[in-house]
Amino acid sequence: MFDLIKRILRSIGYNFHKNAIEDFHAYDPIESFKRDEIKSSYQYFKEFFYNSVLFSTTNGIRSFAINKSLEYSNNENELFMEFGVHEGKSINFFSKYLKEKNKKIYGFDSFQGQPDDWPGYIRTKGYQKLDKKDMDKLNSNVEIIDGLVQNTLEKFLLDKEKKKILFVHMDLDFYPSTLFVLKKIKPYLSNNAIILFHAVHNYSGWKNGVIKAINETFEKNEFEFIAFSSKIQGVIKFKKKN
Ligand SMILES: C[S@@+](CC[C@H](N)C(=O)[O-])C[C@H]1O[C@@H](n2cnc3c(N)ncnc32)[C@H](O)[C@@H]1O
Repeated sequence: MFDLIKRILRSIGYNFHKNAIEDFHAYDPIESFKRDEIKSSYQYFKEFFYNSVLFSTTNGIRSFAINKSLEYSNNENELFMEFGVHEGKSINFFSKYLKEKNKKIYGFDSFQGQPDDWPGYIRTKGYQKLDKKDMDKLNSNVEIIDGLVQNTLEKFLLDKEKKKILFVHMDLDFYPSTLFVLKKIKPYLSNNAIILFHAVHNYSGWKNGVIKAINETFEKNEFEFIAFSSKIQGVIKFKKKN
């Protein structure tokens, strides 16, 4: 009888141990982190969803954002810009809407990919580096400013001093580059300027990403979220302080 109990206990002990080893192999802390990040992103952004238009597709939110900016258009001195052009897919998309109104869009890219590793996310330095000959054929109302934004943007804005920015597609993703651009363009934004962020919510590392750059550039009463996609995009409208 005693032997039997010993054998049963040993067997339970063995099974516990075996399960522990299997759990160790089955448990992926990175996946867990990503899941937690997605949940915490939802908790943070949920309150903004109530006053935003919600889209299920990337093209849907892109059309909305560019059309919204055109609703506010009222002169010739407005700038339409994209940061992060890559193959040219999104800039060509926006340029079609602008062509009908005889307007052009400026696209900024170094074509060297991400300038650094991206902590909390899955991208490393050089991600999306592109040989320019592999770009799509760009529409005639697209002009590319080639180089790191840290080297090109200031001069561009000084040259266009009399113009005001009405539309921005922000697709550099990475926090330091996004912060740099937002701080530089802020004085040039027109009231009601529309900024579409390609990645603002629903991704791992969101807290230290684009939303951090937004909150460090604008005061709470200087912008409002007006749209989100069920992917990762979000749109803000800038409100100039009087
Ligand atoms: C996600 S891709 C853009 C994709 C494009 N908007 C589209 O949807 O078709 C990001 C681009 O930003 C560029 N980029 C990232 N950081 C940059 C920086 N600091 N200055 C200039 N370009 C940068 C990269 O070279 C890359 O081509």
